[in-house]
Amino acid sequence: MEHLINQHVKDIEISGIRKFSNMVSQMDDLISLTIGQPDFPTPEHIKNAGIKAIEDDFTTYTHNAGTIELRKAACHFAAEKYGVHYKPESEVIVTTGASEAIDIAFRTILTKGSEVILPGPIYPGYEPIIRMMGAIPVHVDTRQNQFRFTLKMIKPYITDKTRCIVLPYPSNPTGVSLTEDELKEIAAYLKEMDIFILADEIYSELTFGRQHQSIGCFLKEKSIIINGLSKSHSMTGWRIGFLFAPEGIAKHILKVHQYNVSCANSIAQKAAYEALTAGFNDAITMRKEYEARRDYVFEALNDMNLETVKPEGAFYFFVKIPATIPLNSFDFALDLVKETKVAVVPGSAFSKYGEGYFRLSFACSRETLELGLGRIKQYLQKWR
Ligand SMILES: Cc1ncc(COP(=O)(O)O)c(C=O)c1O
Repeated sequence: MEHLINQHVKDIEISGIRKFSNMVSQMDDLISLTIGQPDFPTPEHIKNAGIKAIEDDFTTYTHNAGTIELRKAACHFAAEKYGVHYKPESEVIVTTGASEAIDIAFRTILTKGSEVILPGPIYPGYEPIIRMMGAIPVHVDTRQNQFRFTLKMIKPYITDKTRCIVLPYPSNPTGVSLTEDELKEIAAYLKEMDIFILADEIYSELTFGRQHQSIGCFLKEKSIIINGLSKSHSMTGWRIGFLFAPEGIAKHILKVHQYNVSCANSIAQKAAYEALTAGFNDAITMRKEYEARRDYVFEALNDMNLETVKPEGAFYFFVKIPATIPLNSFDFALDLVKETKVAVVPGSAFSKYGEGYFRLSFACSRETLELGLGRIKQYLQKWR
């Protein structure tokens, strides 16, 4: 029966991250710098709210969009932290992680032949969904512009078929964010155009040295803002995300969400409420630790003469493979792990414009970083 499978689904390749980690996961004593999730446990008070939800039998369906208390808390959080204003009753949907929010947004706005402009390198979670809609991902090579997806980079790719532009900032895998001026420039240009913005702001609480800026402040009427608790509150397994959009857009996305999952997990919603209220500033302690690690890793990479952009957010470095190494990023990562037992993610996992780089995560202990970086330094000697 396989010949009857939807061709768009057949064409999806498993993610390069998964492909690589499947290959190396059985290795003993592996030092993994590949991790894409926080290494902190979910804060105790949030876990307790989940336990209490079960004890209180809060185990049934909720409103499709999520409990009103959680929607109010999410809108309050977004307003206080980022200055974006959404109505809890009609402009926010609680989703099963940011992943589901990406899925239902694209399924609502894309049709066959729609073009979606995205920066490359980029998190691999968007392209398969765009393709499943019969739509076309148009990646823009940002490598020559310090990974900055500015209006100047975007403009040449806009056509009559462009339906959406993806702004995934702070960025996985580069750590880059756009400035207020860069966002304003994009917003001003798109103001009169029939183009959606999908802004994935899942790392918004993990910014270093400056406050996160949301496109929702400058172009709310065309923006779909995605966020969630996976990264900010170390809650990847709880699967809670948020989708913010003006009522006229959100009411259609809600239909897709409703027939997809009915509602987000009720127990996790109680924990999420705790996270956004009593845990309003929980991310600050974690952010400080990530920032210290970032500074440590940046110095170590500089010391090895490795070229990289200093991340302004998230917990990744995107590092250029030195010109003296005649390997593509997959073979480089494979050789590195075979010789040193240090795993990094090949840049090609983040679109073809990630080729020539590797992603190094600092969502791991300083001891692990020290050990891993020490071995990378030794490994590089062989190519001098
Ligand atoms: C940029 C980006 N968006 C979305 C996600 C998925 O988030 P969630 O776990 O909330 O589905 C990730 C996870 O790594 C990510 O890096």
